[in-house]
Amino acid sequence: MQTFTVNTALDMHLHLRDEEMLKLVAPLSSKTFAGALVMPNLVPPITTKEALLAYKQRIIEASGNDEFEPKMTLFFKNDYSYEFLEEMKDEIIAIKLYPAGITTNSETGVASMDVEELRPTLESMSKLGIPLCIHGETNGFVMDREKEFMPIYESIASAFPDLKIIMEHITTKDAVNLLDKYDNLHATVTLHHLLITLDDVAGGMLQPHLFCKPIAKRPEDRSALLEAALNAHSKLMFGSDSAPHPKHKKECCGCAAGVFTSPIALQVLADLFEKNGKLENLNSFVSLNAQKIYNYKPKEKLIKLIKKDFFVPDAYRYNEELVVPMFAGEKLSWSIEE
Ligand code: DOR
Ligand code: ZN
Repeated sequence: MQTFTVNTALDMHLHLRDEEMLKLVAPLSSKTFAGALVMPNLVPPITTKEALLAYKQRIIEASGNDEFEPKMTLFFKNDYSYEFLEEMKDEIIAIKLYPAGITTNSETGVASMDVEELRPTLESMSKLGIPLCIHGETNGFVMDREKEFMPIYESIASAFPDLKIIMEHITTKDAVNLLDKYDNLHATVTLHHLLITLDDVAGGMLQPHLFCKPIAKRPEDRSALLEAALNAHSKLMFGSDSAPHPKHKKECCGCAAGVFTSPIALQVLADLFEKNGKLENLNSFVSLNAQKIYNYKPKEKLIKLIKKDFFVPDAYRYNEELVVPMFAGEKLSWSIEE
């Protein structure tokens, strides 16, 4: 039977939530991933050392094994002092910037993306070598939000050439093209944006479990993302943006944004890379690129995938709640060796 060993998989964009949901989803990531960059958009968001260290401890306790390293992030604020960031430097891998109101729990994000407004915190980050992760969408027409953000990425990248910037969950050809224009620009891409377009979300019956921010785009965008990922573009890393919400918040009027992919991510990536004859590039995409970009040396963790059917559960349960994963109820052709 065909096998493939994933060496030290890293998920460089992950929502682990808190409390009972955290207890369900942390083990589903820690089972296969060696580490993850954890998003700070809790309610309230993570903006203090106390909150960050306490959250990290809850994640470690919830993950159920000590072979999973949560790499923590702070929620960007304009008025972090240099002294505070200096104190935080060794506790965090990056700071995540959200434009206010752009997605789930981002209400207290930045009101303006004007470089001068952001300058105090960005200058300190640049001096201290703290990378900046950005949710890059304007509040324009939904299909154009990422494209409209490109000039903002350019202005920050050129104003702060020493600041490492990560364009999070890119969804467009424009973003892929921008990677090669600035040395200090990098990106993550999700599994779902490598697989789906807007047609899969809304072309037939509405699929709430595929609704996310940024929304999936056009076939030519997906092709550009896929080509970059399959060829292990050195400035592109895997970041699942696995974003679980309870089933009743997805299957309702006013569906929450987010696709829950962590339990199926490696199996589906193996299938995608294999079908495209690029399995040899999977370890760069899910691990080596991130190690180089973030200068991160994770502890080695080998996960053996086998070409054997895996039936994705209809839902995962915690307390009285259900959480529906991508490919719920479907059969995948790769599974994790238990
Ligand atoms: O779809 C999304 N869900 N996009 C985000 O940016 C946030 C995430 C969430 O936290 O649910
Ligand atoms: Zn996210």
